[in-house]
Amino acid sequence: MQIAVIGTGYVGLVTGVCLSEFGFRVTCVDKDADKIAKLQQHIMPIFEPGLDKLIENNRKAARLSFSTDIAEAVGLADVVFIAVGTPQGDTDGMPNLTYINAAAKEIAKNLKNYTLVITKSTVPVGTNRKLVKIISEINPDADFDVASNPEFLREGAAIEDFMSPERIVAGIDSKRARDMLTKLYEPICLNGAKLFFTTFESAETIKYVTNSMLAVRIAMINEVADFCEKTGANIRDVAKGVGMDYRIGEKFLQPGPGYGGSCFPKDTMALQEMARNVGCNISIVEATIQSNTKRKVKMAEKVIAAAGGSVEGKTIAVLGLTFKPGTDDMREGASLVIVPELLKAGAKIRAYDPHGMKEAAKQLTGNIEWCEDAYDAMEKADALVIITEWNEFRSLDLKKVKALMGTPLVVDLRNVYKRQDMMENGFHYVSIGRQDVVPGQPWIADLNMQDEKAA
Ligand SMILES: NC(=O)c1ccc[n+]([C@@H]2O[C@H](COP(=O)([O-])OP(=O)(O)OC[C@H]3O[C@@H](n4cnc5c(N)ncnc54)[C@H](O)[C@@H]3O)[C@@H](O)[C@H]2O)c1
Repeated sequence: MQIAVIGTGYVGLVTGVCLSEFGFRVTCVDKDADKIAKLQQHIMPIFEPGLDKLIENNRKAARLSFSTDIAEAVGLADVVFIAVGTPQGDTDGMPNLTYINAAAKEIAKNLKNYTLVITKSTVPVGTNRKLVKIISEINPDADFDVASNPEFLREGAAIEDFMSPERIVAGIDSKRARDMLTKLYEPICLNGAKLFFTTFESAETIKYVTNSMLAVRIAMINEVADFCEKTGANIRDVAKGVGMDYRIGEKFLQPGPGYGGSCFPKDTMALQEMARNVGCNISIVEATIQSNTKRKVKMAEKVIAAAGGSVEGKTIAVLGLTFKPGTDDMREGASLVIVPELLKAGAKIRAYDPHGMKEAAKQLTGNIEWCEDAYDAMEKADALVIITEWNEFRSLDLKKVKALMGTPLVVDLRNVYKRQDMMENGFHYVSIGRQDVVPGQPWIADLNMQDEKAA
């Protein structure tokens, strides 16, 4: 089976590379000639663990190639994936479908034999049916089907997620599409995935509802964390105790500075807007969006409060800028709100991220020094703020941290550290959903010592 993937971003590149690993011949196409040229020279356009090795292996085996020639790739393909971006539009909460429509038109012009066109991009309900129309109008003789096949991979774990998903959702409207998808996904189903067939509209909805439900959980646990700070409860214990209920489960119950990334913010906005457009009110999603937007600003206020009410003229070390660890993706990251708020309040930022610095430097400007590593960032700092929980920030040498910093204040927005350790090392430690630890007031840290030692 010959496959073309249109759009070589996080989703398209992972899709193409993983399918080539399963033995299919894949051409990954992008209109960004620079990106394709780099890939041809084996320069990775994104950071995704394990991806470069798979690319190397499959290029050597002549199963994987990169091209800007959409006409040739589509003309040869049995299956064409559309994996172009669907970023949030400028006017309302709906995604911008310019790229997807343009891709469909290009595909239509170049279809030769029977081809299954699979939409991997996240698209509003009704889009796949429109794609059928676009292709048929441009090329009335085309022999094709469309399938809606939303992607659920997580950046940072994308290869594992693509190769061993729990389920593959496929919206179809023909038996031919069903047979083709069954053949295409056979190797992944052998890994244990369930292939779930449904209509276009249901498949499209499943994607938005999945991301929105996860976003709701995060927003809720974040607000519960605020509640814990006021009441003396410990969010770590609360999340653990709640998550032990099998009806709820333990995933997506870690509090933090607010969700970000290329999916949750735009997909919740799109669901809200789609619902409004048909006269429905998904008020829980609306509340989630508002809660998450406010949360990022609130995190900057938390840092300012921890620093004694002002960061004017103070140096703040920021560790972690990407929206989560394991990726260089900055889209909608909490740092994009927290850092500007701190700068606005007069702080000087010393920042470090293991893989996000290049992108961060494009998006964050002002009184920021880009540092060599975590220890470099905290030199003479008045506060240290952990925004993204990269592994390398999990076991900092606390004695060295204390010696380097001007003031031993740590604001841990990911609850990476045990309060007991921070207290023993003489830090004023502020985290999420747990009481502050202030040197000289050890009883608070003692309260959950057992549990935190075990965590
Ligand atoms: N990033 C994720 O974690 C993730 C997860 C699940 C679903 N999705 C969805 O997958 C889609 C793609 O997301 P992404 O993060 O990979 O996007 P991305 O922005 O990283 O990549 C999109 C790529 O498509 C290319 N492109 C745009 N129009 C094109 C055209 N006409 N022809 C050829 N190439 C074209 C762009 O140059 C770009 O390289 C979106 O709909 C997104 O919502 C993303």
